[in-house]
Amino acid sequence: MTAKGIENLLREDRLFPPTDEFTAQANAGAELYSEADEDFVGYWKRQALERITWFKEPTEGLDDSKAPFFKWFADGELNISYNCLDRHLESGGDKVAFHWVGEPGDTRDITYQELSDDVNRFANGLRSLGVEKGDRVAIYMGMVPELAVAMLACARIGAPHSVIFGGFSADSIIDRCRDAEAKMLITADGAWRRGGIVPLKDNCDEAMASTPSIEHCVVYERTKQGVPMKEDRDVWWHDLVADQSATCEPEVMAAEDLLYILYTSGTTAKPKGIMHTTGGYLTGAATTHSQVFDIKPDTDVYWCAADIGWVTGHTYIVYGPLANHTTSVMYEGTPDFPNKDRLWSIIEKYGVTILYTAPTAIRAFMKWGTEYPEMHDLSSLRLLGSVGEPINPAAWMWYYENIGGGTTPIVDTWWQTETGSIMISPLPGITTTKPGSATKALPGISAEVVDKDGVPVAPGGGGFLTMTQPWPSMLRSIYGDDERYVSTYWSQLPGRYWAGDGAKLDVDEYLWILGRIDDVMNISGHRISTMEVESALVSHPSVAESAVVGAADDLTGQAIVAFVTLMGGTESSDALNDELRKHVAKKIGPIAKPKSIIFTPDLPKTRSGKIMRRLLRDISEDRDLGDITTLANADIVAALAVQANEQRKED
Ligand code: WTA
Repeated sequence: MTAKGIENLLREDRLFPPTDEFTAQANAGAELYSEADEDFVGYWKRQALERITWFKEPTEGLDDSKAPFFKWFADGELNISYNCLDRHLESGGDKVAFHWVGEPGDTRDITYQELSDDVNRFANGLRSLGVEKGDRVAIYMGMVPELAVAMLACARIGAPHSVIFGGFSADSIIDRCRDAEAKMLITADGAWRRGGIVPLKDNCDEAMASTPSIEHCVVYERTKQGVPMKEDRDVWWHDLVADQSATCEPEVMAAEDLLYILYTSGTTAKPKGIMHTTGGYLTGAATTHSQVFDIKPDTDVYWCAADIGWVTGHTYIVYGPLANHTTSVMYEGTPDFPNKDRLWSIIEKYGVTILYTAPTAIRAFMKWGTEYPEMHDLSSLRLLGSVGEPINPAAWMWYYENIGGGTTPIVDTWWQTETGSIMISPLPGITTTKPGSATKALPGISAEVVDKDGVPVAPGGGGFLTMTQPWPSMLRSIYGDDERYVSTYWSQLPGRYWAGDGAKLDVDEYLWILGRIDDVMNISGHRISTMEVESALVSHPSVAESAVVGAADDLTGQAIVAFVTLMGGTESSDALNDELRKHVAKKIGPIAKPKSIIFTPDLPKTRSGKIMRRLLRDISEDRDLGDITTLANADIVAALAVQANEQRKED
């Protein structure tokens, strides 16, 4: 966030208290905060016992004897797919779990009974291919219901899944499958995106040439363009399930058994495999989903318009909503296909009551104009949510007025892949909101903004966001790298979880998240590390050196700006610029494509040779550069500033 943005926050004084009507019917009451303050472990244990059907109820709460390797409810036993499916069937098997909308316009309404049958058949199919409890299964699909089926089937047989976002490239599949030593890869022939086909199976074929641990690839047929199938390795989904029984005994899992790995960018080129376990994760997912979104399972139609390939989809499309017996909408494509009113037409059609989306999407809607939401009746909406990046007050107000009709509460929810579930958010019947503030930590969560010595800042101050207590849905480690887990999250300030975000505490002790303070960028709410993009760039034969920064962007929050020094004898050109951007898209995925590339004969460095990233960020955001005389190559900076200015004009 720019310095100007911070100043604006200080002036935000609009207040939105909950209405009496909302408060009267809200799931969560103010007493939860005092209950959790008194005994946070007891509070979470109560949630775990009330919200989960255990095969064996836990007697233990938090085990911190091997901190920071915390355990929650460790002597409990459960299966998460049982909690998402089986226990709902007797009374509510006919209820729709997903109103699914395909991008080309095809739709499916899938009941809990049908979802359960599909999961059981597929789970039996996985077992028939030799997948056993503890085996890692990679899943690389588009937004089809079978993606949720695959995850739940893995959970049913105790095989941890690792979902790889369908927008990632073959190289990204390789890194993740190798790190997890995945035994199986589940994919589709393709996915629809803006009318075109994302060639998922082709990407898998390319990846599987370098992932020897993968024994089988199961392919769901979606786009039907025809893909090669390798004998003995590749199996069609429909063939696999054809003769399977719709009954598959769920594996009895210990609360601390691994449920999934989800890779996320850190400050090095190697993504971190964030590990989530079963009992604590489900407790966090079900509790926050019910409290923050005020879910009424019998009447709400809930829509989390994220992709399941990110943690938001794991927790708030699959596990939280299904555990709470919710009816959800799931949409395959982009919000502007075939028209810019796609989301609003879906809301009208299904009478969606709760919408959860990201600030980048909201800013795009703003840019497109109010005519699109005005084409549809959005009066069914009663609650709106935001996630993934700081929401600027202007976008908050636009969302409130044009989508929420000036009446629905907005929950701005802060959390991370690592936290597993929402940590900081208003509770919609209780909290008075301020546009742009995620407000306060939820009951049972202890967020604190501290200075570099770990001293809590006074109201009005800013610093680093930390957590002072463990919580049930927290990550347990980084797959295969306990040391990195300790050094990344628990070593900056002893005894505290280090979120990697900057934050401000205002005079009312409301939290304002300012964004990442490390070398992780947030592009449209997606985390990408500067190092990942740099290492993709230098893998191109023409590139000698590169430095990548995230520059403030009106639409995507941050945009990737790459400064590139070419190999001697290589001339910069528009064609090379284009080629390098494509090269990064190929190496990581289209979301990591730099918005602009600035060629430079040298990068600004300190006398000890360290690249001055902060200076590059200042250049990209057109800020005053201050004193640069201590640099080894100060002359380069002025030239770069001129170039960056020209690029901005072109954009
Ligand atoms: C950012 C997404 C401001 C933050 C659930 C965090 C936010 C990173 C918010 C995690 C929010 C997420 N306000 N910033 N409401 N929500 N962030 O792991 O920088 O993809 O550290 O998890 O997104 O991104 P991740």
